[in-house]
Amino acid sequence: MTSRSALLLGASGLVGGHCLDLLLAHSAWSRVVVLGRRRLPREHPKLEQHVVDFDQLSSHAQYFRADDVFCCLGTTIKQAGSEEAFRRVDFGYVTEAAHIAAAEGAEQFGLVSALGADAGSRVFYNRVKGEAEDAVRALPFRSVHILRPSLLLGERKEFRLGERIAEAAAWALGPLMRGSLSRFRPVHSRAVAAVLVRLAGERSSGVKIVESDRIRDLAGV
Ligand SMILES: NC(=O)c1ccc[n+]([C@@H]2O[C@H](COP(=O)([O-])OP(=O)(O)OC[C@H]3O[C@@H](n4cnc5c(N)ncnc54)[C@H](OP(=O)(O)O)[C@@H]3O)[C@@H](O)[C@H]2O)c1
Repeated sequence: MTSRSALLLGASGLVGGHCLDLLLAHSAWSRVVVLGRRRLPREHPKLEQHVVDFDQLSSHAQYFRADDVFCCLGTTIKQAGSEEAFRRVDFGYVTEAAHIAAAEGAEQFGLVSALGADAGSRVFYNRVKGEAEDAVRALPFRSVHILRPSLLLGERKEFRLGERIAEAAAWALGPLMRGSLSRFRPVHSRAVAAVLVRLAGERSSGVKIVESDRIRDLAGV
């Protein structure tokens, strides 16, 4: 495989951090461009960092010239402060990044979405995630990989009470979460990143949606 370039959005986050580690260590990618709100305290010969204004992404189009894009962006309604602010990130920034990447000739787009994403859902969060998925799928990428993890496991810098409660409940109910319920089991953020990077490395064509239980299978956990 010839050496490829990667663009990573959300590298300061839980999944994005693992994704960055994997891309830097992988021989398929010789250049890894990270766009963020602030610089990461990290140096690597393959790593190129740019601090950008996400409300003005189109003015940073030159950084989107990459073969493969990995989008691990996202917030919560609580963190963002309102539904509108949440939507600006999880739909607005994601889809604008995808549009620019497609226009700049990216071949592959990998998106970390969420369990239950559905543009027709009555649940606001699931609807926004589903709308973002649909917008990305409609773009002329050679391949689109959409991962729909359940609750993410991993070391977070900040405390999220709701996620901790859900995690505890999932551990307690884990043995009961079999068959169709297995997709509700929490999945480690490292496994999500591993599958996102692996699918890009395979360079298949078309749209692939990977549900949470399948993420666990593919990652071998
Ligand atoms: N948490 C869960 O259990 C869960 C479950 C299923 C799906 N998901 C989805 O999985 C994806 C990855 O989740 P994660 O937990 O790894 O995310 P995370 O740790 O919260 O990281 C989110 C990333 O998005 C960036 N971001 C957030 N708000 C931004 C803004 N206003 N402007 C620019 N960048 C912004 C963050 O940058 P900063 O560091 O600058 O804030 C960070 O790099 C998200 O789409 C999330 O919705 C999460």
